[in-house]
Amino acid sequence: MNKKRNGGWLRRSAYIGARIVKSLFFWGMAAVLASSAYMDFIKLSDSANTSAVMEDAGGGNSEKASEVIENTGGNSEKASAVMEDAGTSDSGGITAGQEDRTQKKVALTFDDGPHSVYTKKLLDGLAERNVHASFFVIGKNIPGNEELIARMQQEGHLIGNHTYDHVKICDLSGAEACEQVEKTSALVREITGKDTEFVRPPFGAWNKSMECSFTMIPVLWDVDPLDWTTKNKALIEQRVLEDVDSGDIILLHDYYESSVEAALELVDKLKAEGYEFVTVDELILE
Ligand code: NI
Repeated sequence: MNKKRNGGWLRRSAYIGARIVKSLFFWGMAAVLASSAYMDFIKLSDSANTSAVMEDAGGGNSEKASEVIENTGGNSEKASAVMEDAGTSDSGGITAGQEDRTQKKVALTFDDGPHSVYTKKLLDGLAERNVHASFFVIGKNIPGNEELIARMQQEGHLIGNHTYDHVKICDLSGAEACEQVEKTSALVREITGKDTEFVRPPFGAWNKSMECSFTMIPVLWDVDPLDWTTKNKALIEQRVLEDVDSGDIILLHDYYESSVEAALELVDKLKAEGYEFVTVDELILE
């Protein structure tokens, strides 16, 4: 269980930089739009409300946005939530934005596959429910299961990297660790035409200093029901349901029948609670 045991800090610190760059780009665009809105306004009217329009159109909010980034410092999740608020209030897409803010989202992630029987069963169940998940695959499990990898991509799931041999990255040399990641990525690329961008380090141990780590985005988790320790699917479901919140990444394994059955029942139960299922990139990069 141990909520946020590993997920929070590494994920946040890894993406704060990317988010700030994204935010700066967003607010730069907002400023461009604001100035063009301002010019239109000048053409159309006399000026009485110009400063109000400028504020609404983004002038005021660029300031607000940079303030928010400074104030929230390391807490990028909070910063991005506030940024969203600031954005939707004057973006024009108000209705969609408001719905988005109240929509509960969660990401199901599955490690250690593909498994010829259970991954197939899971893909069938997810397709029936029109739900997308994220699969962190082990390279050595891919040969013989290529069609499952192809299905993952065709059916809208995210394919991530869980090393080739399921090894503890930080016990290896940098070159060996990168080889573990790259071998798996190459196998996925042969099938899908795309490299893996996201990595779930086995045992949650990632080494940020190795060369290939700059191109990989590590994904940890928020909810860990320890599904691999029990065959009791009701217990797995209970552990997840007791712990889950909007924005969480749930860790499961598509290598066990009980985990797959629990996952599909969890989809039905969480849908009934109003959750939408997204792939991890949506939660991490927004
Ligand atoms: Ni694993």
